[in-house]
Amino acid sequence: MAVLGRWRLVLLWLWPCLAASPKTPNVEVTENQGYAAGQSGEYFRYKHMFYKKPTEEDFENAQKVAQEVRCPVCVHLLRSLLSRARSYSEDDIADVLEGNTDYERTGDAVEDQMLKHKKGCNKHFKDDLVAEGFMLRPCKEVAPEIKNDTSPCLWQSPEKPSKQAVDTYEVWKEGVFYACEQSISHHTDALSEALAERLRGQRDVNLTEVAQQACQKVAKCESVKKAKEAKPPPAGAGSTSQAPKKGKGSKKEL
Ligand SMILES: *[C@@H]1O[C@H](CO)[C@@H](O)[C@H](O)[C@H]1NC(C)=O
Ligand SMILES: *[C@@H]1O[C@H](CO)[C@@H](O)[C@H](O)[C@H]1NC(C)=O
Repeated sequence: MAVLGRWRLVLLWLWPCLAASPKTPNVEVTENQGYAAGQSGEYFRYKHMFYKKPTEEDFENAQKVAQEVRCPVCVHLLRSLLSRARSYSEDDIADVLEGNTDYERTGDAVEDQMLKHKKGCNKHFKDDLVAEGFMLRPCKEVAPEIKNDTSPCLWQSPEKPSKQAVDTYEVWKEGVFYACEQSISHHTDALSEALAERLRGQRDVNLTEVAQQACQKVAKCESVKKAKEAKPPPAGAGSTSQAPKKGKGSKKEL
């Protein structure tokens, strides 16, 4: 059946999404995991996990996804963040890229633990992509003119997900998170500096174009090496992914 064939392709990339639908009882709140297991970022990026702990294979799949969508994720996030900057000064740009936000305590331990870490890419991938209805679909279905195959393409659904869906662990979301981290977090200083220079005194700039150039030249989103460098976070190193290395990347003209 044609319909089935199509679904198989969608499933390839979206099986975690489907498995996490609210109807599936296979989801639990990370009441204990958040603290006891807490050995890596997954445990504070989400409220809802599967019973099965994420495996090394899940991590590797997320890295593959990150490699495929690093540029579109970087461009979309950078454009969106720049549009919210108070000004195009280096400090104000760095502020939006760092995304440090204080949240009121909710009294829900798991939620508060998640919010405590919700800054930088832990915040951006959720607020600016997942919560806005962005997801990954096979390119041939959503952008065959760009890539006519089954690799994942960033696509915005007209429907926004529920809060529970946003806060539920899925491998593709981790891919989007790492794509953000490898481009925007790892180059925050260089991006802020180059963008401030590029945007100084400018009005009516096309932020999409500016973001595209910055992602390629400064964040080096096309680099293949990044994916190979990535290693699973070692046990006990839960904070590595929210403490981006500063000062990496040299100043680049845009
Ligand atoms: C994509 O590939 C399919 C099958 O190979 C072909 O029929 C279709 O015309 C292609 N689409 C584009 C936009 O190239
Ligand atoms: C901004 O640039 C992008 C990419 O080059 C282009 O697709 C878009 O149409 C431009 N937007 C405006 C308002 O000119």
